[in-house]
Amino acid sequence: MTSLWLDTHPVTTTGVPLAGGERYDTVVAGAGLTGLATAVLLARAGQRVAVIEARSVGAVTTGNTTAKLSLLQGRQLSEVRKHHGDEVLAAYVASNLAAQAWLLSFLDQRGTRHQSRTAFTYATTDQGLRSLERELSAADSAGVPVSWSDDAGLPFRVAGAIELPVQTQFHPLEVLDSLLADLLEHGGVLHTGARVQRVGTDDGCRVETSAGTVTAERVILATGVPILDRGAHFARLQPLRSYVVSFRVPGTVPGGMYLSIDQPTRSLRTAPVGSEELLLVGGNGHPVGRRDSTRELVADLESWAGEHFPGATRTHAWSAQDYRPAGSVPLVGELPLSHGRVQVATGYNKWGMTNAVAAALRLAAGVTGEEPPWAEVLARTSLSPADLGEGVRFNAEVAGAMTAGWLATEARGLPDQPPPEGSGVVGRLGGRPAARSTVAGTTCTLSAVCTHLGGIVTWNEAESSWDCPLHGSRFDASGKLLEGPAVSDLPAFE
Ligand SMILES: Cc1cc2nc3c(=O)[nH]c(=O)nc-3n(C[C@H](O)[C@H](O)[C@H](O)COP(=O)(O)OP(=O)(O)OC[C@H]3O[C@@H](n4cnc5c(N)ncnc54)[C@H](O)[C@@H]3O)c2cc1C
Ligand code: FES
Repeated sequence: MTSLWLDTHPVTTTGVPLAGGERYDTVVAGAGLTGLATAVLLARAGQRVAVIEARSVGAVTTGNTTAKLSLLQGRQLSEVRKHHGDEVLAAYVASNLAAQAWLLSFLDQRGTRHQSRTAFTYATTDQGLRSLERELSAADSAGVPVSWSDDAGLPFRVAGAIELPVQTQFHPLEVLDSLLADLLEHGGVLHTGARVQRVGTDDGCRVETSAGTVTAERVILATGVPILDRGAHFARLQPLRSYVVSFRVPGTVPGGMYLSIDQPTRSLRTAPVGSEELLLVGGNGHPVGRRDSTRELVADLESWAGEHFPGATRTHAWSAQDYRPAGSVPLVGELPLSHGRVQVATGYNKWGMTNAVAAALRLAAGVTGEEPPWAEVLARTSLSPADLGEGVRFNAEVAGAMTAGWLATEARGLPDQPPPEGSGVVGRLGGRPAARSTVAGTTCTLSAVCTHLGGIVTWNEAESSWDCPLHGSRFDASGKLLEGPAVSDLPAFE
């Protein structure tokens, strides 16, 4: 499932191979929006920066997003207010405004295209209307000019909608390409195909990767979920996977950026591709690795689009995950026990176009000394009792998934027959959990035990991958690590 973005504007720059022995001021792990924006800010401030990317630029969430750069964020503002009150909400909004302004100014400087759009959040139920009222009130208190919308312009009935004009949408790979070009022009370095596996921090940072070891004064983990477990961030995050389908639609399509506040979530925007205006429909999110039929979720988006936009024909379908933090505020700052040398940024709750850049501004401030006032408020935001409760719930679900996975493999042996094309099965083989799949005629048998912390992986039929229901690590059918907090592949079953 290749996204519209990765298909129409892949970033083919691979940088220079990592040889081992290089020295940098800062190493940034991850070439998504967080990593590249942080690296650009540091390189512009005169640092010698290297971005080390396990796969390719934008390969994971940023290359598979819906890329709305918006302050109207579903329930996000009312959730931040509910958990932390008005002062933190004001700081959250200020951080997102600063990020939006920085990115727009950067794109204008570089001549990178983006489109101004009105953002809408709409409700289809009375309960949804009450959520809209809370969002409007939170936006009001933080000075965001959201208003009730008389006509959202959608081709189906809504109970109500709120709107925020002059927000932005873009092609995320074009944006990453511009950031990368700027980074290289400012002396930054890109190494792709090298996975950071360990970071020692006793005397400076010793960054061990799959391609060799480099040293640096400082490391930024911009890897989606952090790959080092010292901060146990994985225990405060819920990985949520959702689906996006792009369509060619006869006639005109509504020009706004839309998000439903009721379930099932529907996220809509247009995307100019050549002379066409495609329609994107996203939604059907669920915790990673905990859905039996993922193909059905894609089919459901297609049938919803067919019903509301007659004649819509699919051009691309894809999927991605982002991390919902207990407490709704992104987790940005020092990794514990790293002597202040390793920093992380994660937990954007599907609002990373603003929050990744806000994190970059915050992380770069440690070097540039230009710390914005909102950064200090967000840095001292601690988990409230309600957040701790949410964290406990995430972990109870994780413990349940761990137990269920191990019990299920205990209960059933792995069938001798290869599974049918496109499917995978988990069972006991020689007394140990094994995962076997057949993809493109090749049957692979792997250990079913996730290399992060021992969850039992489940088969994702839509993407032909093994997904871990604990903290969201994912592996392809041959065991190669795709994403998540794990740092090594699923080994072949010996
Ligand atoms: C379906 C969907 C739709 C979304 N839509 C929107 C939207 O409309 N607006 C919005 O604001 N946000 C949206 N988001 C959220 C947003 O896309 C993400 O928050 C954002 O892209 C995260 O960027 P990132 O750089 O932190 O992570 P990523 O883009 O995932 O980048 C992390 C990079 O780190 C690399 N990496 C991982 N481990 C290692 C390692 N050990 N060594 C080296 N490299 C490593 C990965 O390969 C990857 O390239 C959406 C998210 C999803 C899932
Ligand atoms: S991702 Fe943590 S155990 Fe698999």
